[in-house]
Amino acid sequence: MRHQLRTLITAKRIRARIAEMGREIDADSSDEPLYLISVLKGSFVFLADLSRAIKSHARIEFMAISSYGRDKTTSGQVKVLKDLDVSIESRHVLIVEDIIDSGITLNYLLRLFQQRHPKSIRVATLLDKPERRLQPVDVDYVGFTIPDEFVVGYGLDYAEDYRNLPDICVLSGI
Ligand code: IMP
Ligand code: MG
Repeated sequence: MRHQLRTLITAKRIRARIAEMGREIDADSSDEPLYLISVLKGSFVFLADLSRAIKSHARIEFMAISSYGRDKTTSGQVKVLKDLDVSIESRHVLIVEDIIDSGITLNYLLRLFQQRHPKSIRVATLLDKPERRLQPVDVDYVGFTIPDEFVVGYGLDYAEDYRNLPDICVLSGI
């Protein structure tokens, strides 16, 4: 069966919400640099837009993690594909995620980073699918709460496809 795409959140709505999220993050920030840690690859588009909506002192770092195979279901196994290049000890950290689904990836990252003694650690996610949660997580900034559907676009993929779509779309027929 061929894949079908249905727009769930338009680029225009995403832009407006990210501007608000930037203001929320600024209101909670100090003069010390905030380390925006993008979880590759899915959050690269969100990071690019969110970082420019934040007016306070920020630095950008990348981390690559995999918890999914080619498939759309979680393997439950989290693997660090690329670790941070810098120390986050005594730094303010903001984890920038594309989507929180089971919560397994985020819990793994929070545990890993807490061992490195940051000054503070917060989480921003563009999308949250709370119905799918297997492990509870505390998220500080949520762009949109969405139903239990598989979405692609704006950085999110299905088997590496569709990351370049400007809107967030529901993918069916998979
Ligand atoms: P979790 O560990 O189950 O919370 O999975 C989080 C990761 O799974 C996200 O960072 C995405 O890479 C991927 N993921 C979860 N749901 C979707 C979806 O609907 N579309 C695309 N990727 C997803
Ligand atoms: Mg991700």
